[in-house]
Amino acid sequence: MRTKIVAGNWKMNNDLNASITLISDIKKELSGKNSNVKIIVCPPFTSLESVSTVLKGTEISLAAQNMYFEDSGAFTGEISSSMLKSVGCEFVILGHSERRTIFQESNQVINKKIKTAVKNNLKPIFCIGETLEEREGGITFKVIEKQVTEGLEGLTEKDLEHLIAAYEPVWAIGTGRNATPEQAQEVHAFIRQLISKLYSSGFADNLVIQYGGSVKPENSKELMTQPDIDGALVGGACLKADSFVKIILSAQ
Ligand code: PGA
Repeated sequence: MRTKIVAGNWKMNNDLNASITLISDIKKELSGKNSNVKIIVCPPFTSLESVSTVLKGTEISLAAQNMYFEDSGAFTGEISSSMLKSVGCEFVILGHSERRTIFQESNQVINKKIKTAVKNNLKPIFCIGETLEEREGGITFKVIEKQVTEGLEGLTEKDLEHLIAAYEPVWAIGTGRNATPEQAQEVHAFIRQLISKLYSSGFADNLVIQYGGSVKPENSKELMTQPDIDGALVGGACLKADSFVKIILSAQ
């Protein structure tokens, strides 16, 4: 049985005060509610340390939204994996479609980042997904296959023991138009099969694959009850404590 994992990607939202309010509200909203779902929050860099302090003593884990692949040096504006570890991060989102499209991150760059994260004991949340044009062109599986094989190149099963994959169709992110449970399930099953071919069926069976793209309380349960959907990576709907917690509870 794979554990369901729900992560909230705050993106470039919430200054320090707003971040502390949101995480405190999430904690309050969750109190007294039993959930066997693993929860991760991904605030902006500037709020990581403060959110980490609020999270002490809870089961909620902290993730960053990005990092650089070098360990240190003259890389103005970048953040290293050890910096993230030092403020309490356990996970890091890598390869988010906004990084790929707005900041031109290639599969090769994402591969280097995953290698660095793994080397420094940060657990990657590895995002993949096709654009609308690619879906309509009938090349969804081809795109996913390339992102997975190039993104994970040179990494062993042991390296990836804590990997989380997230299927996020680009056309569903921030658009209000989620993939249907059937559309998502079809790609999740494809990813699991591909991982099984690249690694082993045991590894593929244990891999958590989240769905992301316009997840909200109204559609989360239906998505997450699909056999190969093991949780959600939530953007917009995680910015309000009550809707984020509703999504978490719907994953049980
Ligand atoms: P969304 O974003 O839920 O706002 O569509 C998801 C994501 O980008 O992770």
